[in-house]
Formats: sequence, C-alpha cells, structure tokens
Amino acid sequence: PVRPVLPPDITARKGGVPLVVLTAYTTPMARLVDSHCDIALVGDSVGMVLHGMPSTIGVTLEMMILHGRAVVRGLGKAMAVIDMPFGSYEEGPAQAYRNAARLMTETGAPAVKLEGGQHMAETIAFLTARGVPVMAHVGLTPQAVNTLGGYKVVGREAEAAKVMADARACEAAGAFSIVLEKVPVGLAGQITHALRIPTIGIGAGVECDGQVLVIDDMLGIFTDFRPKFVKRYADLGRAADEAIAAYAAEVRARAFPGPEHGFADQVKS
Ligand code: KIV
Ligand code: NA
Repeated sequence: PVRPVLPPDITARKGGVPLVVLTAYTTPMARLVDSHCDIALVGDSVGMVLHGMPSTIGVTLEMMILHGRAVVRGLGKAMAVIDMPFGSYEEGPAQAYRNAARLMTETGAPAVKLEGGQHMAETIAFLTARGVPVMAHVGLTPQAVNTLGGYKVVGREAEAAKVMADARACEAAGAFSIVLEKVPVGLAGQITHALRIPTIGIGAGVECDGQVLVIDDMLGIFTDFRPKFVKRYADLGRAADEAIAAYAAEVRARAFPGPEHGFADQVKS
C-alpha cells in the first residue's frame, strides 16, 4: 500500500506545485477528494454546510469526530486534517491537547487545524511537541465572527502587520502549514514569501502555496451564500433540483416506478 501523506510531506511541498485542498464531510465526498487532492479538510464549516447552522460556533467535538471518521474511511492517499471546533481548545494547551488527542485517536486523522495567531502560539507549540501536528488558520477566523463583527477581509492597511505577526508566530510555534482566509492578495503573497511553511489560501490570491475551498461551494450545492472567492466548478444544486422535480412529477403521474423497477410475483423457471 502507498505510504500515507503526513504533515512533514506537506511542509516539504513549500514553494513547489501548489497544494490542492478541499473540505470533505462524508465518505463518498472524501473518495472523490482523495482522487485529486493532497489534503481533505474536515472543516467546521460542516455545521453551516450540512447541518444548517447560522455559523460555526455551535459545532461540537462529537460532530467533528463523526464526520472525521466518515472522511478518513474514504481516503487512500490524501491526508485528513480535522478542525478543532469552537470551545474545544481556546482555554489553554491542556484542554487543546485533550481534545486534539480525541480527534486523532477516534478518527485516525494525523493532524488538526485550529484558528488563531499569536494568542494560540503557546498552544500550537504544546501540541506540536507532543505529537499533534497543527495546521494554523489566520486572517478571517470564522469562529471569531462575533468579535470581528462579520465575515470581512482581514489585513488591510494597519491590520496587515498583525496578520503577518500572527502567521510568523504560528510558524515559530511549529505549525506545519497555515490557512490564510480572506487576506488581501498582496499581504498573502508577502506572508507566503516570509514563511518556510506552506500557506493555503481561501480568498487570499494566487501566490499562496496552495488553495482550499469548501467542496459544497465549488460544486454549487451549498447556495445559501456566494462569496467572491468561490469559483463554481459545477452546478450540482441545480442538477439535484431538476432531478427531484422530475421524480416528483413522475410519482404524481404514476410514471415512476416503471415495470423494469418492479419484482415479478413468480420466480422465472
Ligand atoms: O471550516 C472550513 O471549511 C475551513 C476552510 C474553509 C479553511 O476552515
Ligand atoms: Na474551519
């Protein structure tokens, strides 16, 4: 069997062919991601995308474990990374370690992701020193939506120096890679050049070392919002709507099921 991709392999990809990352929450989607991507991210976006939550704040460790296990079952070569949900790591290194260990042992994923820069550096160092590889996440950090006041671009003008300092702190603490979310393109390029670990951008321009999108967004399934940074590569939501409409019409017209979908009363001899 192929040796699985591990965090040091991802770090070693710095500056090379861009890393390809998509979220996944279920086994069938993980299988599709596995065929084409380097990393399947079990994002806490699952709360909004699959569970109808208004933000990621209500996502629990149990939800991440359930979806994480489903995704890991579908992977053969891509690496799984699981988001630490709101409230599961911010108290301090010991709490973060306890919950990161649960995510890893109960799913089989080799790495976790958490949101935060300088204020999370101590926690990232604590986890990394104890066998928990950490992907960091700076810029727009959706779990902080209530303090940020919305899903705005983070890092314009005077704010740029803080985002750079956050990214540097995560690297110094031992993060194996870092997500830059909704960071202006010039700053994302500067951070990418300043760091030795790969940057993975979402709404952060083409200079990052890799890109990530929410799979349901790029497939046109999750259509509740359409941020500028999402490119739709398919319109599966519309395809599903048309299919369901056709099914409903055929059932009402007794056109489905047809004879070919039924079972004969006599077994053929
Ligand atoms: O939860 C998520 O899907 C994420 C990515 C978009 C980076 O954190
Ligand atoms: Na997330």
